[in-house]
Amino acid sequence: MPKAVALLVAAGSGERLGASRPKAFVTLAGRPMLEWSVASLHAAGLTEIVVALPPGEAAPSGCVGVPGGAARSDSVRRALDAAAPSDAVVVHDAARPLVPPPLFVEAIAALEAADCAVAAAPVTDTVKEAGPDHRVTATLDRSRLWAIQTPQAFRREMLERALDVGDDVLAAATDDAWLVERAGGSVVVVPSAPSNFKITTPHDLRVAELLLEETIDRPEAD
Ligand code: CTP
Ligand code: MG
Repeated sequence: MPKAVALLVAAGSGERLGASRPKAFVTLAGRPMLEWSVASLHAAGLTEIVVALPPGEAAPSGCVGVPGGAARSDSVRRALDAAAPSDAVVVHDAARPLVPPPLFVEAIAALEAADCAVAAAPVTDTVKEAGPDHRVTATLDRSRLWAIQTPQAFRREMLERALDVGDDVLAAATDDAWLVERAGGSVVVVPSAPSNFKITTPHDLRVAELLLEETIDRPEAD
């Protein structure tokens, strides 16, 4: 297993959630949302964690905190600048608190065959393209479509090169794997479950709360 550092991006404001605090710091099933991801990283054996933070918030104990940037990939770049040397880097959204620990390990292991490995769930809805007039122009082949999540693991040199772009490109990136694709790197998907969803709306927060409380309440197996 290559030496890996983890970057936890938590600097967003959570506009669509509409809470009184930045999203990653909203209480979820008894603890700040980002601490679920920190616990999952620890369970996967990843203890070097840099957290990109929104203004006025502190990193969880044992993690290095850095101020986040204007765009998500800018936060990733700032966190990477503060990370200790490593062979691999794992980027994870603090907004995905239900991430299972083995997914981090699987993503890092997949770097043997590619520059970047991204957790992804098979798309279950039929996906169509439509114009501004709502007229459908295409139906995509669902068997080839994946809904991309985090964690996303990277060979470190590749991520550094991929992030060495202008702020306009960083602002256009909805994930860092796209930056690797742009830089000519190879990207593979690591099959994941839809339960590793991103908390975006109050509905998502409620669903995550129910799922996490179920986990907490479940008695230990014999
Ligand atoms: N993020 C970040 N820095 C930014 C923007 C986002 O670190 N400048 C992080 C968020 O904290 C989150 C993850 O990237 O963990 C995914 O982003 P998203 O779900 O869009 O979160 P927010 O940007 O906080 O939410 P919204 O877009 O609704 O404001
Ligand atoms: Mg956002």
